[in-house]
Amino acid sequence: MSEQAANATLVERRDVTDALAYFFVAPDRAPFASFEPGQFTNLGLEVFDRSVGERRFVRRAYSPGSAPTQRERLEFYVRRVQGGRLTEALFELRPGARLWLDPAVYGRFTLEPVPADRDVVFVASGTGVAPYVSMLRSYAGRKRWRRAVLVESVREERELGYRAELEALAARDPSFVWLPTVTRAPEASTWAGSRVRIPALLEPDAFARRTGVALDPRTTHVLLCGNPSMLADVSARLGELGFAPHSRRAPGQVHTERYW
Ligand SMILES: Cc1cc2nc3c(=O)[nH]c(=O)nc-3n(C[C@H](O)[C@H](O)[C@H](O)COP(=O)(O)OP(=O)(O)OC[C@H]3O[C@@H](n4cnc5c(N)ncnc54)[C@H](O)[C@@H]3O)c2cc1C
Ligand SMILES: NC(=O)c1ccc[n+]([C@@H]2O[C@H](COP(=O)([O-])OP(=O)(O)OC[C@H]3O[C@@H](n4cnc5c(N)ncnc54)[C@H](OP(=O)(O)O)[C@@H]3O)[C@@H](O)[C@H]2O)c1
Repeated sequence: MSEQAANATLVERRDVTDALAYFFVAPDRAPFASFEPGQFTNLGLEVFDRSVGERRFVRRAYSPGSAPTQRERLEFYVRRVQGGRLTEALFELRPGARLWLDPAVYGRFTLEPVPADRDVVFVASGTGVAPYVSMLRSYAGRKRWRRAVLVESVREERELGYRAELEALAARDPSFVWLPTVTRAPEASTWAGSRVRIPALLEPDAFARRTGVALDPRTTHVLLCGNPSMLADVSARLGELGFAPHSRRAPGQVHTERYW
C-alpha cells in the first residue's frame, strides 16, 4: 500500500445480504489498542481510482461492534455503499486478504458522560447499531445503566443486525429492551413488529408502556448513531420533549455519532 502498509488480515466475514456484512479483522500487532465501547478506528485499502487512473490509499472510519476485551480480532458491521470508494473494494475481499487497520482509536461517543443511575436509549439506523453492540457486550449486567432500550431502524427485516444476540440479551436481562423497527417491510411480510420511523416511536406514554423508560431528560440520556437525516429528525423530536444536545461545554442528554 502506498501510504500505509497493510498491517492486518481479514480473518473472517459473515455476509448478511449482498451489501451488509460482518468483517473480522486481526491486527498483526495484537492486542489492538485499548478503547472505550463506542469509539471508532479506521480501515484502509489501496483502491483503483478511476478519476485519476491510478491506485490510491483510501481510509474510512468504522465503529467496532466487538467489546474492548477482544483485541486480537475486531469485528466491524459494514454497509456496502453503491459507488463507495472503500466499501466497494472491502466487499471484494475474502478471508486471508490483507488490509490496513489504524492502530489508534478516536471519538467521544461513549457512555462516559452518562451517569450510571440513568436510563439510556440507544438509537441506531442501519450499521449504526455497531457501537451499541460493543457497549452492550461490555456493560450488560454490570449496572452501567438503570434500564437500556435499543431502538434499531432498518429497511428490511433481514437487515436487523445482531438480531439473535439482542433477542437473547433482552430475554435474559430485564433491564434491557430491544425495539426494532422495519420501515420497508412488504405489506404481506410476516414482520409483526413496528414499521414506523423512529420519531413516531418517541411518543412518551406509548414508549414508557413498551419499554419501562420515561422519555424525560431528568432521568434519561439518548444516544443517536447513523444516517445524518435520522439524527436531525430524531434530535428535533427529542428537543420537543425537552432534551438538549450534549457537548463538553454545555452538558445535555443527547449524544450523537454521525456516519456521513
Ligand atoms: C465515526 C464513524 C464511524 C463509522 N462507523 C461505521 C460502521 O461501523 N459501519 C459502516 O458501515 N459505516 C460506518 N461509518 C461510515 C464509513 O466511515 C464510510 O463513510 C462508509 O463506509 C462509506 O465509505 P465509502 O468509501 O465506501 O464511500 P464514499 O465514497 O466515501 O461515500 C460516498 C457517499 O456515500 C454516502 N454514505 C456514506 N456512508 C453511507 C452509508 N452507510 N449509507 C448510505 N450512504 C452513505 C455519503 O454521502 C458519501 O459521501 C462510520 C463513519 C464515521 C464518521
Ligand atoms: N436493496 C438496495 O438496493 C438497498 C437496500 C438498502 C440500502 N441501500 C442503500 O444503502 C444505503 C444505506 O442504507 P441503509 O438502509 O443502511 O441506511 P438508511 O438509509 O440510513 O436506513 C436505515 C433506517 O433508517 C431510517 N431512516 C432514514 N432516514 C431517516 C430519517 N430522516 N428519520 C428517521 N429514520 C430514518 C430508514 O427508514 P426509511 O426506510 O423510512 O428510509 C431505515 O429504517 C442507502 O443509500 C441505500 O440507497 C440499498
